[in-house]
Amino acid sequence: MQSSSSLAVALMLLASGALSAATSVYQPTFVSCPSNSSSLIRSSSGLSSKESEWVSKRDAITEPILKSFLSQQLANSTLDKVFSDDNEQKPKVAFAVSGGSYRAMLAGAGMLSAFDNRTNDNNGAGKLGGLLQSATYLAGLSGGNWLTTSLAFNDWISVQDIVDQIKSDNSSLWNITNSILAPFGAAEPMEDLLRWATIRTDIQNKEDAGFPVSIIDLWGLALSYQFFPTGAENLIWSSLQSSDVFSNAEMPFIISTAEQYNEVESINTTIFEFNPFEFGSWEHSKFADIEFLGTDLKNGSPVNSSKCVNGFDNAGYILGTSAALFNEVAANIDNLGLTGSVKQILEILISSWAAENGIPASYPNPFYGLDAESQDFGSNITLTEDLYLVDGGEDGETIPLVPLLQKEREVDAIFAFDMDANTEQLWPNGLSLYATYARQAQPIGSEIAFPFVPNTTVFVDESLNEKTVFFGCNSTLLSELSHIPPVVVYIPNKEYTYASNTSTFKLSYTDEETLGMIENGYTAAYQNNDDSSYATCISCAVILRSQQRLDISPSEECQSCFDKYCWEPTV
Ligand SMILES: *[C@@H]1O[C@H](CO)[C@@H](O)[C@H](O)[C@H]1NC(C)=O
Ligand SMILES: *[C@@H]1O[C@H](CO)[C@@H](O)[C@H](O)[C@H]1NC(C)=O
Ligand SMILES: *[C@@H]1O[C@H](CO)[C@@H](O)[C@H](O)[C@H]1NC(C)=O
Ligand SMILES: *[C@@H]1O[C@H](CO)[C@@H](O)[C@H](O)[C@H]1NC(C)=O
Ligand SMILES: *[C@@H]1O[C@H](CO)[C@@H](O)[C@H](O)[C@H]1NC(C)=O
Ligand SMILES: *[C@@H]1O[C@H](CO)[C@@H](O)[C@H](O)[C@H]1NC(C)=O
Ligand SMILES: *[C@@H]1O[C@H](CO)[C@@H](O)[C@H](O)[C@H]1NC(C)=O
Ligand SMILES: *[C@@H]1O[C@H](CO)[C@@H](O)[C@H](O)[C@H]1NC(C)=O
Ligand SMILES: *[C@@H]1O[C@H](CO)[C@@H](O)[C@H](O)[C@H]1NC(C)=O
Ligand SMILES: *[C@@H]1O[C@H](CO)[C@@H](O)[C@H](O)[C@H]1NC(C)=O
Ligand SMILES: *[C@@H]1O[C@H](CO)[C@@H](O)[C@H](O)[C@H]1NC(C)=O
Repeated sequence: MQSSSSLAVALMLLASGALSAATSVYQPTFVSCPSNSSSLIRSSSGLSSKESEWVSKRDAITEPILKSFLSQQLANSTLDKVFSDDNEQKPKVAFAVSGGSYRAMLAGAGMLSAFDNRTNDNNGAGKLGGLLQSATYLAGLSGGNWLTTSLAFNDWISVQDIVDQIKSDNSSLWNITNSILAPFGAAEPMEDLLRWATIRTDIQNKEDAGFPVSIIDLWGLALSYQFFPTGAENLIWSSLQSSDVFSNAEMPFIISTAEQYNEVESINTTIFEFNPFEFGSWEHSKFADIEFLGTDLKNGSPVNSSKCVNGFDNAGYILGTSAALFNEVAANIDNLGLTGSVKQILEILISSWAAENGIPASYPNPFYGLDAESQDFGSNITLTEDLYLVDGGEDGETIPLVPLLQKEREVDAIFAFDMDANTEQLWPNGLSLYATYARQAQPIGSEIAFPFVPNTTVFVDESLNEKTVFFGCNSTLLSELSHIPPVVVYIPNKEYTYASNTSTFKLSYTDEETLGMIENGYTAAYQNNDDSSYATCISCAVILRSQQRLDISPSEECQSCFDKYCWEPTV
């Protein structure tokens, strides 16, 4: 324990920026541009050629796993035609994990583990294990993105392994006993201070190298120390491409979302995605090679062909961008239970950074100077040299569905985990689904299609926020949309074994609380095991679109599932 006077001196030095730590690897580097620099930007819709190639590889892996999973839940005769060689478009599954800080990460982890074949006692008839291994895409937003990114970047560790680490008191990947803000605990203020000083130096170096910085750098680095025990500062998003699990297409393709910062909240807000290959927007048909994010480009070409950038796509920075609730954390600083020097440290950092650099994450705009499309929806993403991005949930769409609704991704069923906290008691009320449903009626949403969902009043009145619900079963009702959207299997956060409606601003969980959240999420994904045909019904939802394409009526067994789980609008 340090004396309070040396701490006071250190705080002053931190405030002045003079407390420097070891030099860092956080700073992006300059490299010469690839010889074909027109490949850095893509102004077209559709999948990138790299994603198409990856998905073909993944399809070959998921098809037998999915078939074997389904054959344990459904009569084989039901599956014959769906998996026959004549049927070229096999069922395609995706998962989407909502935002909601640690609440979403932990409850979402439990839900995801219900579909993972590596979870204990989770395989065979009546069990859901194996669907995650059959999925093509996994999208995460904010806290949901902390989950997906920390799994993918830790060699796709299973939630079961993390739970086992915690139970056996081994040092665990998600030890969030101490707050993100005071990672060494209140007893070690000097350690906390040095951590923040290191972070501050990292950011200073990035700024000195000529890159825009913001408070999100601070937040993203603090987060990455929680999730990436080794080499937090130099973990590069695009490095996922060369990891074995990803390059062999063994597990789903992760996608993270953020949106353009607007002073006035608008339905026309552009949604951006980060995927292992690209950063960009489907709505504007503009994508950039993510490995070179941070490069100054004009009209699609590098401003200086010997000054391309690598390493701007720091994974922690992307974690922070998708979860830019730091501004709310800053505004709530008095209510976070922080005391003494930790609170002082943060106040200093927040006040010096926010005033100077603002709240949203800044990115050199890769689309600057490109011809604006006739449909720019007033968002001007080609007019400014920097792009400002915020939490993907700021427009109400807390579940990252938009990337999974693109026709070209051919998703048939989305498992949508909702850990939003809309009601007074911090449970979801369906707002996120409704916001996505409403988006498709706007010009900016014209490329997506989404099933009918009711408004939040009806959603809550009919208790749709308290059980698993299938949206969009009847494709006839959807025939007027731009294309037939996936079936959405909605799974809300609900209390079964643990009160999982914790605050978004709860920034530390004891090991017991962590385990309680995860177990409750697992139970919610099984709807508390209250239906012996549950895994069958989930399987019926997975093959429904394939059957509709082949004009096959559902089996009697599936029809009774749909009667139970499908929500349809009354016209
Ligand atoms: C350069 O990249 C563009 C876009 O990816 C591609 O269309 C073009 O064929 C490439 N040219 C060469 C010479 O590789
Ligand atoms: C479908 O067939 C496989 C073997 O071909 C068998 O293991 C499985 O139990 C069958 N499923 C059902 C529901 O009868
Ligand atoms: C889970 O599924 C994968 C892919 O099929 C398989 O390689 C692995 O052995 C399975 N693990 C368990 C524990 O069943
Ligand atoms: C805990 O750590 C020990 C030593 O590293 C290891 O042998 C053991 O397998 C770990 N247990 C779990 C459940 O991870
Ligand atoms: C998590 O960290 C706390 C505080 O440092 C420690 O007491 C606890 O044993 C750790 N838990 C695990 C599972 O490592
Ligand atoms: C391009 O960048 C290189 C390397 O930083 C620099 O030496 C050169 O002067 C720059 N060229 C122009 C035209 O700015
Ligand atoms: C959204 O964009 C459309 C045109 O693309 C425009 O007509 C509409 O006024 C915009 N709405 C808002 C709220 O900015
Ligand atoms: C887009 O540009 C137009 C014209 O330059 C301007 O009036 C409008 O405010 C800009 N919108 C945004 C969101 O910056
Ligand atoms: C969580 O939900 C329960 C029951 O719905 C409620 O009693 C409790 O106050 C809620 N907790 C919070 C933090 O809102
Ligand atoms: C919600 O939808 C119901 C049924 O369509 C409608 O009666 C009600 O007015 C709507 N409520 C709001 C607040 O829009
Ligand atoms: C789907 O909706 C159409 C139009 O309302 C209706 O005619 C048809 O019976 C419905 N199909 C099923 C399977 O419920």
